[in-house]
Amino acid sequence: MSEPRVSTLISAADLAAKIRDLGARIAADHPGQSIHLLGVLKGSFIFMADLARAIPAEVSCDFLRVASYKGAHSTGEVRFEMDLTEPITGRIAILVEDIIDTGATMDSLLRVLRARNPEKLKVCSLLHKPSRTKVKVPIDYLGFTVPDRFVVGYGLDYDGHFRNLPYVGVVEGM
Ligand code: IMP
Ligand code: MG
Repeated sequence: MSEPRVSTLISAADLAAKIRDLGARIAADHPGQSIHLLGVLKGSFIFMADLARAIPAEVSCDFLRVASYKGAHSTGEVRFEMDLTEPITGRIAILVEDIIDTGATMDSLLRVLRARNPEKLKVCSLLHKPSRTKVKVPIDYLGFTVPDRFVVGYGLDYDGHFRNLPYVGVVEGM
């Protein structure tokens, strides 16, 4: 089988420019405060690495991993495959996600993490597919809206592939 072709949807330069803006906004919205970034693995790792460097403030990082839902019946609580390593009580926490598709993952995550009493819990997602929304979640910081296509690159994968592409693209034929 030959390698599937990926065509560019969002270039590396457009990603970089947007992340500079997001970082500046995040710092401006929390003057003098330290920002605790919570990366949702694996998809957010490249975005989070760039975002963290784009925030001109004190930043700390933690990570979690949740089981991904297969199929449409995604109403249950989220299952942690890996939890945060530190409490978020009293902190300014920002969940960093690669993409919000149906919203089910983020909705469950927000409910679980709000119960830990952070001072603030915000959402920063690189991508959003509004046409697929099943559960509406607040997105405080959004990079780009994308059409209802399967996207890969810049952390996002198709079956484990393409995470290392420096741009966001669509797999041809999908
Ligand atoms: P949701 O719970 O439906 O919002 O799904 C969110 C998760 O599904 C994301 O964190 C991604 O890991 C995965 N996902 C959804 N759409 C895509 C896509 O187009 N490409 C790669 N991963 C996706
Ligand atoms: Mg994800």
